[in-house]
Amino acid sequence: MRELEISNQDLSDLADDALSLARSYWTSLEDRPTYPSTSAKQTTELFSRPWPEDGRGRDVFQDFNLITEHVRPSTGRFFGYVVGSGEPVGALGELLAAVLNQNVTSWRSAPAATSIERAVIGWLAQAVGCARFTGSLCGGGSTANLMALAMAREAKLPANETGARPGVIYASEQVHMSIPKAVALLGIGRKNLRLIPVDEQLRMRTDALEAAIAEDRKSGNTPIAIVATVGAVATGAIDPLMDIEEIARREALWLHVDGAYGGLAALAVPEKFQGLALADSLSLDAHKWLYQPLDCGCLLYRDQSIAHAAFSHSGDYVKIFSQDPEEAFAFFEESIELSRRFRALKLWMSLQYHGRRAFRDAIARDLHHAQMLAEMISSHAEMELLAPVPLSAVCFRHRSKDNQAILRRVIARGRVYLSNATINGQFALRACFVNHRTTTDDVRAIVSEVIAAADELNR
Ligand SMILES: Cc1ncc(COP(=O)(O)O)c(C=O)c1O
Repeated sequence: MRELEISNQDLSDLADDALSLARSYWTSLEDRPTYPSTSAKQTTELFSRPWPEDGRGRDVFQDFNLITEHVRPSTGRFFGYVVGSGEPVGALGELLAAVLNQNVTSWRSAPAATSIERAVIGWLAQAVGCARFTGSLCGGGSTANLMALAMAREAKLPANETGARPGVIYASEQVHMSIPKAVALLGIGRKNLRLIPVDEQLRMRTDALEAAIAEDRKSGNTPIAIVATVGAVATGAIDPLMDIEEIARREALWLHVDGAYGGLAALAVPEKFQGLALADSLSLDAHKWLYQPLDCGCLLYRDQSIAHAAFSHSGDYVKIFSQDPEEAFAFFEESIELSRRFRALKLWMSLQYHGRRAFRDAIARDLHHAQMLAEMISSHAEMELLAPVPLSAVCFRHRSKDNQAILRRVIARGRVYLSNATINGQFALRACFVNHRTTTDDVRAIVSEVIAAADELNR
């Protein structure tokens, strides 16, 4: 047998092993702690080993069970950050995508995969009320935001040929860190990102936005784009899109909407997202609120020619000669990536397996869980809400105890996992619901675990 070749029998045994490991992991999920009792010392000792000269064979798959003891499991009681729950049909789609090993650079390189990604992009665009948008999948919201601002820059202050000139970008103080990162990487410079103050609901103040733009124009600066956020990472705050859009049009600025956390909730509550279709570009994260396994970001945009202006730089060896527009289609002319994996297959499998209604209902249930928690906290004598709850992130605190110490205790107890945020300078405990496995009992456990952790601090 040649190097790296595996017999059909061995392959079949390995595939059985892999699927049986996946099956037993999925069925054991709810019995696992929300966070493993492990340390960096332990994981380093266990997993930093030399690459063996001779292959270990089938035995290596048994490492999976050891690994599962030291990972953060996707249980229904994980409420930290904005972490989707890894829907299993999507995970099986990932496996099959890797089996097919398509390089989704273009239709010529990956015919079915390209048409499937374009179809799935259409579903996502339609789901959020942006049916006329096109776009592509990418690694996550950060990459989508970077690509969107590259398009904004090319549309308003072209830089690809001559190099970047300073332009100004506006976003709320609550903006995700991926925006300052993108501004820095694009050579716009972080000092040219204006962080606009927010109102009491933590939404961008449009009066302050207008004033900042006017001030920049007076000083001879060149405004190029506004980033509105629908679902700020800490609190879920939704910037006032219709008003921001009006300012963007009046000022001839690019309007990018960062919907990495919240955008897909438009499937369930479109009334909260009016104006999305007026954006020039929109980031979404299917690995967040569409429950897909990582990674699965998405950038949608209205004008394909601007994506071409920003990203098309074809070398001769990839030039496509076809009269048929679909066969000539190339993602690399609209995206940062050339080699791209077949991310769309998990969406194709998972979204059709369950159907649109199931996803809409799961998002609605997450929204309900957040309201339920907010009500439990508001009516609890020892706790208080620290921010409004427009979507599914709930920020709160214990009134009289050290909340940082509570958070450490809650995580150590292993029954629920919370993360934290800073709201108006105050340390907040934070629970975020983007999880199809969460039950109402899991939501109740948040309150009882915080109180139990607070009581432990007295001892
Ligand atoms: C509002 C917002 N934008 C962007 C991102 C970045 O997304 P990703 O982690 O997929 O890069 C996040 C992540 O939580 C987010 O909440």
